[in-house]
Amino acid sequence: MRVLSGTQPSHDHLHIGNYFGALRQQVALQQKYETLIFIADLHSMNSVRNADERQRYTRAVALDFLACGLDPAQAILFRQSDVPEVCELAWYLSTVTPMGLLERGHAYKDKLAQGQSANHGLFAYPVLMAADILLYRADLVPVGRDQKQHVEMARDIAQRFNHNYGETFVLPEPVIGEHTAVLRGLDGRKMSKSYNNTIPLFESEKRLRKLIMKIKTNSLEPGEPKETEDNTLFEIYKAFATEEETQAIAKRYAEGIAWGEMKQLLFEYINEQLKPAREEYERLIANPGIVEEELQKGAEKARQRSAPFLAEIRDRIGIRRLG
Ligand code: ADP
Ligand code: TRP
Repeated sequence: MRVLSGTQPSHDHLHIGNYFGALRQQVALQQKYETLIFIADLHSMNSVRNADERQRYTRAVALDFLACGLDPAQAILFRQSDVPEVCELAWYLSTVTPMGLLERGHAYKDKLAQGQSANHGLFAYPVLMAADILLYRADLVPVGRDQKQHVEMARDIAQRFNHNYGETFVLPEPVIGEHTAVLRGLDGRKMSKSYNNTIPLFESEKRLRKLIMKIKTNSLEPGEPKETEDNTLFEIYKAFATEEETQAIAKRYAEGIAWGEMKQLLFEYINEQLKPAREEYERLIANPGIVEEELQKGAEKARQRSAPFLAEIRDRIGIRRLG
């Protein structure tokens, strides 16, 4: 089984919600499957229109993965644009993709619903995404719920191509983390960069402590029993902790631990948990060349797979020397 997943470089570093909701699972897959992870810089052109920003975000995504335990000896980490075969394949796939399929795309429909007109890049985005997936013959594609439709489109496009030119592509399956909890942020709403209520992954100890102290609680006094339900502090603790640790903490709430004390406890606990990632992150930003080097090595491995397969595809469609 081969797993592939892509992340757009369209933001700075991740927050702990992204980590529990997505990154942790993606990194864990490397133990079980052949894993390819790429930075979707070609896709980011639909939203990021500034060259320096794209560079900064690309570095941020690479650092997020490397610092959070993606092991380049086990998984292949690469930049989408370092594998030019993907653009060529996207063209081939576009010739078997009905307009109607793309017209049903969420990203495109949302744009129109906002009264805006879409670029071709946004409209054709599912075709490039299909090329990302099909080029590496990925079986499993872990994605957020919002991306499920795109993986289904990739399947559909693969089937159409196979039908016309013979069995060529593996049909990919989306893997959706249905059971991952949604972490709440400082103000009690879903932790999200758009709400500005996040706890970023690589904060200094001092900032981390400050942020945790800001988490919204209710006005129950020390000694009064507190619910674990609807309790942001408890949820964050639970996301990091083992089952036994979580139960022990639930007991402290029932006994009426003070909010301030619980915040200090949570800080100490997650500070320990985040330390290795933070240290690795700091090592990497002190040696910026390492990140580019890893991406180059990853691209080489990715191309060892993509180039021969693309040659096979060309042969199937009759794009070859006259025999
Ligand atoms: P944001 O809401 O900060 O913009 P994204 O929408 O870019 O985050 O989400 C990136 C990934 O992280 C998705 O797979 C999403 O499911 C996950 N994710 C985002 N916020 C949370 C959260 N608060 N709890 C759990 N998972 C989250
Ligand atoms: N479209 C995805 C997103 O916005 C990123 C992505 C591009 C991707 N190509 C992919 C994800 C291929 C999985 C597989 O999050």
